[in-house]
Amino acid sequence: MAREGPCQRAAFGGVIEFRLRETRIVAGGCQLIYGNPMRLWAISDLHLSHPRNREALDDLPAHPNDWLILAGDISDGPKRLEGCFRRLAGKFRQIVWIPGNHELWSLPRDPDGLRGVALYQRLVEVARGHGVLTPEDPYPIVEHQAGPVLIAPLFLLYDYSFRPDQVPFDQVVQWATEANSASADESLLHPDPFADRPAWCAARCQETAARLAAYPEDLPKVLINHYPLEERLAVLPRVPRFTPWCGTRLTHGWHRRFNACAVVYGHLHIRGTRWLDGVPFQEVSLGYPDQWNQGLGIGAYLREVTVAASRSAPVI
Ligand SMILES: [Fe+2]
Ligand SMILES: [Fe+2]
Repeated sequence: MAREGPCQRAAFGGVIEFRLRETRIVAGGCQLIYGNPMRLWAISDLHLSHPRNREALDDLPAHPNDWLILAGDISDGPKRLEGCFRRLAGKFRQIVWIPGNHELWSLPRDPDGLRGVALYQRLVEVARGHGVLTPEDPYPIVEHQAGPVLIAPLFLLYDYSFRPDQVPFDQVVQWATEANSASADESLLHPDPFADRPAWCAARCQETAARLAAYPEDLPKVLINHYPLEERLAVLPRVPRFTPWCGTRLTHGWHRRFNACAVVYGHLHIRGTRWLDGVPFQEVSLGYPDQWNQGLGIGAYLREVTVAASRSAPVI
């Protein structure tokens, strides 16, 4: 996907190389080389299983010098995800993808019958096959126009902790079902081999926090997750009882703890930017066909990631 130079990928602890105008940073055991200042664009929740969204994808404007973040819910299952990567080939210098819940659905039509972690690993393989960065790759440090930033695509899932205190964990699905708000994930998103989704979520959060902590504390970080990292952002006026499927309290304060200069997420299908503690949190979803104006074109929903300038390190 790197158009102006080779992109080498190795196991964690190896090197990602974007050979443009070379600059080196050694961080967390990783040596990273990056180049020309770029802009960072983001969109999520393309939901390409819907024909109108699928047809619109070709109109996404090209930014061949810039990076694109796809923040989950691109489509259901690996096949359409691969189709998306193929159609976007060449439009951006680099694509970064994280899974939403829809990619992790095990659908009867899927001949592989993959579930849980095995399905996630298959999705990662598909992305890598198209040169797309995933949460399983070393986090690259890139020279953004605002200065060097770490790009951290995260896969953290949810654990039902975004719920009112009076609703016990073992009653949360029933509580949502009473308002017809339980997620289809209950029957389609399997946690195998974990015992349940909260266990998978806890493991992802623990592993991810350790990875982020291995990078320099003062290095500004762009945190990308399908779900909002803060419970106060998981506000859904039309389906208030859907919040248990919208994140985890385990990520509370991560934007301060890891010196985020930006947080990008989707899932809510409520676009907008909120500033918390001087950090922009951008919800960048497109949404289902009735949630966006096709007359404006899909390009109107491509968001440039705002990076908090005060958190940027000096250009090296
Ligand atoms: Fe979505
Ligand atoms: Fe989602």
